[in-house]
Amino acid sequence: MSKKIILSGMQPTGHLHLGNYEGALKNWVALQDEYEMYCCIVDWHALTADFDKTPEFPDRVFEVAVDYLAAGLDPEKCSIFVQSHVKEHAELHLLFSMITPIPWLERVPSYKEKSLELGLDSYGFLGYPLLQAADILVYRADFVPVGKDQLPHIELTREVARRFNTLYGNVFPEPEAKLTKFAAIPGIDGKKMSKSYGNDITLADSSEETGVKLKKMFTDPQKLRRGDPGRPDICPVYALQKVYNSDHQALFRPCSTGELGCVDCKKVLIERLNDALADLRARRAELIAHPDQVRGILRQGAERARRRAGETMILVREAMHLD
Ligand code: TRP
Repeated sequence: MSKKIILSGMQPTGHLHLGNYEGALKNWVALQDEYEMYCCIVDWHALTADFDKTPEFPDRVFEVAVDYLAAGLDPEKCSIFVQSHVKEHAELHLLFSMITPIPWLERVPSYKEKSLELGLDSYGFLGYPLLQAADILVYRADFVPVGKDQLPHIELTREVARRFNTLYGNVFPEPEAKLTKFAAIPGIDGKKMSKSYGNDITLADSSEETGVKLKKMFTDPQKLRRGDPGRPDICPVYALQKVYNSDHQALFRPCSTGELGCVDCKKVLIERLNDALADLRARRAELIAHPDQVRGILRQGAERARRRAGETMILVREAMHLD
């Protein structure tokens, strides 16, 4: 029995943060033994918002590749590659654009929200989820590990696969989202951790930088000083304790009574978090010191990806009488 196929992707945002790690990367690492995996760095998608920042792209792509590898993605087990190195994504996207009604794209929730929020009005931005569909279907993937926010994109991917199959014959499986449960990772300000909010702790941060950030982290706003009773259930620092400190329950009562102050609570967390990331950071430093090795891995990943994507495109062109 051949392995089922997984495609996953992230934009080259630069340094990945704890939210990316807990919410996605860790899960990918866990899946790589059981599945044939393709892990993509989607630089073309990043152009939708950052078309005027392309000089930053080489570094941003490199840093994400380093984070993938430092987190434990094994290039022997999964193909790690850059989207723009595999032109088949673009060809399939173009063909899909001919069979996709514009209203299917206009009704994707992220389109209206983000086009207003970010002032994006390009043709490519409207087509963002269709390019994502091409990313997934060019590998004829069975599963896509994503967060809840991506479900409308997976639904569109399934609709496009169905429409193609009806028009030209069965080429594509209908891929399924693989949702993972994970603890929400709050940022320094207590909001969802996000690079764009500037509230993140990255995998690239040193243990000192991590300490400085955590010392500034918001806690229960009603607990101003030691002695004030705290509410761990609404405290972002406690949310991180739950993830990184297996003894977090021992802090619950002393925080609630006020006996434990936030400064001491944070000291414990800083130590636990830095311990949890120590191996990853050591691997990171090692990879940064060998950039050619990282680039070689991306080259080899793209070759493997191209092989699978090339096979799909032969089937597609045959089905469409374009061969
Ligand atoms: N839209 C995804 C995100 O913002 C990134 C992405 C692009 C992706 N292509 C993909 C995710 C294919 C999974 C599969 O996170």
